[in-house]
Amino acid sequence: MGAPKGEINAAGGRLGAFLAGGTASGRGATADIRRARDMFTRVCKEDTVFEGEMRLVIADSHVIILAWAFGGEIKGFQGVCPHTNAPLETADFDGEVLTCPLHNWTWDLRTGDPIHPQESRLAEYPVKIEDGVVYIDTDGVTPLLAER
Ligand code: FES
Repeated sequence: MGAPKGEINAAGGRLGAFLAGGTASGRGATADIRRARDMFTRVCKEDTVFEGEMRLVIADSHVIILAWAFGGEIKGFQGVCPHTNAPLETADFDGEVLTCPLHNWTWDLRTGDPIHPQESRLAEYPVKIEDGVVYIDTDGVTPLLAER
């Protein structure tokens, strides 16, 4: 998977550490698991996201693109362009490629990797879906900016 392992693993690692018990046990472990789950913020119903489409959502003051690329799964990426930090609200998405309307930079929304230019990838947010609801974890994720 081309996703940023550090970001994904940070969330998984945190929850995994809680679930593994570590130093917590009994009542404390239950509270730790609850806190880990609470780091995910409810953003929308799953049935409002369609394959081949994207939408912008807000979670914990982060603007996030929620995209479901053809043949992929629902993923969350930074909703601001790495070029100028402009919102990607009016970006074009053809079901695979996201194009910023300002200077036509493009990214593959199956992975968040840049296509043209090969300047900066999009930061990815951990997403989970439970009982038809989409949740995003913003903890530790910062939108990426290009060097230029
Ligand atoms: S602001 Fe998005 S490509 Fe320039």
